[in-house]
Amino acid sequence: MYTQNSAGFETLAIHAGQEPDPLTGAVVPPIYQVSTYKQDGVGGLRGGAGDQGPARWIEGYEYSRTANPTRGALEECLAALDGGARALSFASGMAAEDCLLRAACQPGDHVLIPHDAYGGTFRLFDKVLKGWGVSYRPVPVSDAAAVRAALADRPAKVVWVETPTNPLLSIADITALAQIAHAAGALLVVDSTFASPYLQQPLALGADVVVHSTTKYIGGHSDVVGGALVLADAGLAEQLAFLQNATGSAGGPFDAWLTLRGIRTLGVRMDRHCQNAQRVADMLASHPAVTEVLYPGLEAHPGHEVAAKQMRAFGGIVSFRARGGEAEAVAVCGRTELFTLGESLGGVESLIEHPGRMTHASAAGSALEVPADLIRLSVGIETCEDLLEDLRSALA
Ligand SMILES: Cc1ncc(COP(=O)(O)O)c(C=O)c1O
Repeated sequence: MYTQNSAGFETLAIHAGQEPDPLTGAVVPPIYQVSTYKQDGVGGLRGGAGDQGPARWIEGYEYSRTANPTRGALEECLAALDGGARALSFASGMAAEDCLLRAACQPGDHVLIPHDAYGGTFRLFDKVLKGWGVSYRPVPVSDAAAVRAALADRPAKVVWVETPTNPLLSIADITALAQIAHAAGALLVVDSTFASPYLQQPLALGADVVVHSTTKYIGGHSDVVGGALVLADAGLAEQLAFLQNATGSAGGPFDAWLTLRGIRTLGVRMDRHCQNAQRVADMLASHPAVTEVLYPGLEAHPGHEVAAKQMRAFGGIVSFRARGGEAEAVAVCGRTELFTLGESLGGVESLIEHPGRMTHASAAGSALEVPADLIRLSVGIETCEDLLEDLRSALA
């Protein structure tokens, strides 16, 4: 059993949950593409691991909605990487968010959400959960005093934080917010998708739950959609596993296998994403066609100090505002060649998008509306000079 006490990050990424298959010795967890399992007796799960190897591989299965060995390998690895008691993997990041909120909240409960967050998260609160009686209030989570005041105003069940935020790259102080949330009896949930477990460890800073869209850096190759929850508390994890099985939101074994394949190189990929993003941000910061660059690695960024304290490096996403306004921002998105115009982020290839008209269109007219002149880059791991050249010529 590999844990953060016994092994470093890259060792965990390659080995946690990924012991050689006890049946064949395969060094990579096989894709158990199976829906059901032969049981030992009526009403009994498959059992009898004995001394044949880790029980997870061969015991406890009845039906793959409930548990599957490939998914189990992924969940064990995710728990180790974020230092949680347990992780659960889902068919998407949104499925993970929905499961968590339905377990944590009842009709009548209140939630604080960031006033800058992924548009789909806002849509879940605004268009789905509100209808079921869960109210929300957007607060600037980079301002701990504002969060404390909002909780004093009206108690909340959950303080939902994204850091860095999508798409404005705001930084929330996880340690401070954990103290504030816990003092008010609220759960602190951190969507750490932009950072990945390599750059940021929210549970060690006091958060209760980490959310990941594993579609992004964790998978890392734009070839699979998935999500994860990593829980500090095994009891809450148990409730969530019940709900996940009851509602059927887990992903399939091939998706779990692809995600695990991505995870093994997470550390080395993130190092290069961060290096390239810093150079892109530095170039944009002095470009005449750009009015503002949003990247926590820039010293002028308001969250730079907190980010430097709680993150290993500053991530691969850079947002910036075009001097020519919305029309120019849209035009720049259409002029890059190496940066592909597309939603999502965190893959090895660079992407460019216009959040106002694409990923965050659902926040239009709300407190979470994003500036119309904003462009978001997911800086990939291509040769950095090529990326800089592509941006320079698109901005010219
Ligand atoms: C920060 C953040 N959280 C959650 C999600 C939702 O994840 P998924 O698209 O895997 O459902 C996204 C998707 O872009 C995201 O950027």
